[in-house]
Amino acid sequence: TSDTRLYQPNAKSPLQIFVRAKKKINDIYGEIEEYVLETTTFINALHAEAEIVDKAERELFESYVYKVAAIREVLQRDHMKVAFFGRTSNGKSSVINAMLREKILPSGIGHTTNCFCQVEGNDGGEAYLMTEGSAEKLNVVNIKQLANALCQEKLCESSLVRIFWPRERCRLLRDDVVFVDSPGVDVSANLDDWIDNHCLNADVFVLVLNAESTMTRAEKQFFHTVSQKLSKPNIFILNNRWDASASEPECQESDLAKVKSQHTERCIDFLTKELKVSNEKEAGERVFFVSARETLQARIEEAKGNPPHMGALAEGFQIRYFEFQDFERKFEECISQSAVKTKFQQHSSRGKSVSGDMRSMLDNIYERITIFRNLKQDQKTLLTDRIQGTETQMMQVTRDMKLKIHTMVEEVEEKVSKALNE
Ligand code: GTP
Ligand code: MG
Repeated sequence: TSDTRLYQPNAKSPLQIFVRAKKKINDIYGEIEEYVLETTTFINALHAEAEIVDKAERELFESYVYKVAAIREVLQRDHMKVAFFGRTSNGKSSVINAMLREKILPSGIGHTTNCFCQVEGNDGGEAYLMTEGSAEKLNVVNIKQLANALCQEKLCESSLVRIFWPRERCRLLRDDVVFVDSPGVDVSANLDDWIDNHCLNADVFVLVLNAESTMTRAEKQFFHTVSQKLSKPNIFILNNRWDASASEPECQESDLAKVKSQHTERCIDFLTKELKVSNEKEAGERVFFVSARETLQARIEEAKGNPPHMGALAEGFQIRYFEFQDFERKFEECISQSAVKTKFQQHSSRGKSVSGDMRSMLDNIYERITIFRNLKQDQKTLLTDRIQGTETQMMQVTRDMKLKIHTMVEEVEEKVSKALNE
């Protein structure tokens, strides 16, 4: 019971770390943008009216505006990306469907994945797909139509089809996880192009193996190249079709345990000794034995209100189902933490440096304004002094004039009265 409690559907998902961090950093950048725009008006006025800010400085400030806008745009689009690889028919598309809890991607005979398919959440209620280089939205009503659309399109194997699926249909899509399905690594000669075009920004890679056979050279080679191009990629290994091993007619439980430990050892060696991307402990938590087909069936039953074991394909369903959920939990923790670091760390340090630059520029302008203001103040004082001086002078002059006029008037008066008397 304690184990099932861990997987309550409403238990807080580790993906929320990313979701919350994304919201927070977007809010902060929103504020920075508002502030930058407001300051621009101010800077422009200082340039046009008072010439305190020169042209170069004004242009430099404008470049901050563009930088902030560009970062905001990237931030709004940021998501967590997981890419699935492995030999053809190992069940890559089935694993994605099991995680999405719905048969979205075509799988099985006649539905070989022949190009890269990206499933991402869409805010509107509709499902549609878009092919590379075209802005046309092809509506998808059901899986059959999607499969047909994928077959009809003449697509190059390394091109990308984006499938937009209503967010509310799946928690992982709602929480900004984007899934990338690929054609089998054994059918392509363009693995380098694949990596360059589709893998460099993936946060997590999932290698889907067939538990009935061993890892092939093509699968190993692919991940060798990935780990040369990326420093320490996060790789999970799923030994899929584990139900098939359990339903082998003469398979004893002890045989199964032996096969499992052999596979586990090989997978851990691959991650630690060959690729050197994980230590022993971490690698031990990256290898799982699952059945994608069974998990999907169980989830479809659950959605109908039936007990999940109605989707069971063989003995040992509970353990496999549990292991799939365990994989999802570890995957969510890993992708969320890794995406926060790779996607936001850089932006927050860039944000810090841009706001630092703006601050010192504004401090500088402020200093100049203060000097300018003091200068004006001095000029004003000087002027006032001068005016006061002039006023005194004027008063003096006026007083003299008054006196003169007075004497003149007196003289005239005297002359007039003298004349009158005479
Ligand atoms: P490609 O797209 O051709 O490269 O194959 P894929 O790796 O996407 O495999 P896909 O999911 O199409 O699965 C191939 C077949 O294997 C389908 O018929 C699935 O139903 C079946 N299958 C997938 N996973 C399992 C599993 O865990 N157990 C069993 N028994 N069958 C599975
Ligand atoms: Mg496929």
